[in-house]
Amino acid sequence: MTIQFSTKIFPHADLHSAKQLKSSLAILLGQATDCLILGYSKTHLDDFGASKPKPGLLLELDRLLGGSVTHAKDLGDLDGKQASTCLLRAEKSWVPNGVKVKRVLLVGLGDLTLSTSRNLNAYAKLARATLKNLSSTTIKNAVWFVPSFSMGHKADFLAEEVRLTIQYAGDQAYRFGVRQPAMKFKAKDKADAFAHLTFAGNDDCAQDLKAAVAQGVAMVEGMHLAKDLGNLPPNVCTPTYLGKTAQGLAKKTGLKVEVLGLKQIEALGMGSFLSVAKGSETPPQFILMRHQGGKAGEAPIVLVGKGITFDTGGISLKPGEAMDEMKYDMCGAASVIGTMYATALMKLKKNVIGVVPTCENMPSGKATRPGDIVKSMSGQTIEVLNTDAEGRLILCDALTYVERFKPKAVIDVATLTGACVIALGHVHSGLFSEDEELVSALTKAGQASLDTVWRLPLDAAYHEQLKSNFADVANIGGRPAGSVTAACFLSRFTEKYKWAHLDIAGTAWKSGAAKGSTGRPVPLLINYLLEQK
Ligand code: BES
Ligand code: MN
Ligand code: ZN
Repeated sequence: MTIQFSTKIFPHADLHSAKQLKSSLAILLGQATDCLILGYSKTHLDDFGASKPKPGLLLELDRLLGGSVTHAKDLGDLDGKQASTCLLRAEKSWVPNGVKVKRVLLVGLGDLTLSTSRNLNAYAKLARATLKNLSSTTIKNAVWFVPSFSMGHKADFLAEEVRLTIQYAGDQAYRFGVRQPAMKFKAKDKADAFAHLTFAGNDDCAQDLKAAVAQGVAMVEGMHLAKDLGNLPPNVCTPTYLGKTAQGLAKKTGLKVEVLGLKQIEALGMGSFLSVAKGSETPPQFILMRHQGGKAGEAPIVLVGKGITFDTGGISLKPGEAMDEMKYDMCGAASVIGTMYATALMKLKKNVIGVVPTCENMPSGKATRPGDIVKSMSGQTIEVLNTDAEGRLILCDALTYVERFKPKAVIDVATLTGACVIALGHVHSGLFSEDEELVSALTKAGQASLDTVWRLPLDAAYHEQLKSNFADVANIGGRPAGSVTAACFLSRFTEKYKWAHLDIAGTAWKSGAAKGSTGRPVPLLINYLLEQK
């Protein structure tokens, strides 16, 4: 961890109650921290100038800070606008009042506190601005007084907001490779000075806060792992490396991990998966990760991740431009491994199984040719018309394999189609499912983590495009609706259970100057799992 999180409960601290305001502020300002973070609303600013019998948050703060707030206000640094920040630095006049904090960061809530239906986007903007402010200073640690950001609204918002804050702080603190044993090269970027964030609360929110912080911390660990695996070069992050990583998690947590090699994959009859792997010198792996947090007989939720550690396109070779980015073609696998890690860390009380078919897609004398017909584990024969449509070929056998778990639901995650990037850009992941409950749960989980999805169709009409003259099904359906026909292909292997497919081709990584893994959709999956009954 390049950043640590903790909680601290001040049982009676309440800045909303006129009675408790004074003593609460005294306690908070008496903390030995580099920075105390408080949210305030426009109404607190209105107190200045008005003759108030009971001073509000800012007036009382002003008194304890020897006029620092007035000073900032007079300079125009404090306007109450949503996501505006104002950093007050300790002065001599603070000391006689028992103030120990070195700074106070005031964050404008705008009208955020007034709306009954919370807008997580507005909160996100504010959290980002706050965290950015912290990272550009020498501040090493800070205390974020959570109740000052939420005027008594429901606790589930608090959990979402705290998790999102940790998600963003984790994102900001992420540095490539620092946790990876395989990275012998020096970390390129220096860590921020900011290394410890304490979420402070009171008795009213203590339980929710502690739970949300634990969940957020686990999620960040999972995201960091997912990002590292995505960013690692393809000569390091091979199928074997993914398998070793999963086995390493078993040692660290209670996860039960099994990694099947070539012989076992052959014995299972995964002819489709093997047709992709066979062009490569690197052996394929089939990774199984189990988290047994629920009752023994409880049906598991199964996550399946596409693990193509490099996608050259095979004999249907891709053009050279930006081909390096095809090291990210295992981001589905990375997000499943990251989610399983987070699930184990937070000791989720559910049964979850992660499954990763992983191999390279390479051209060689042994590679599959366009026109080859292969037999999937399900028995269906597939005409491989384009060896670059390989993701579906490895996923279909994994989707058949997971039938044995009698799953409650199966969600596969894959950087499946370039067409999805054209359809949805880099904003939403594509969501495909015929199960309305799954659609609604995943959509909600996406909104709660700002790791959003957009539903695309799966109608029978699109299946027409997958017809083959020589086999049960073709592996491509032409250019129109490329993401939909890819999902339709997968759906043929998922008839025995409830299933959803996430196409993360546009959301798993960023190109250009900010090139790097995003860790998506770990937040979405974690929020989904947390919400399952
Ligand atoms: N991994 C790619 C999809 C991809 C391409 C994701 C670019 C992100 C950016 C996948 O294996 C692939 O090559 N799909 C083909 C399918 C086509 C041959 C039907 C595609 O999208 O072009
Ligand atoms: Mn491909
Ligand atoms: Zn691919």
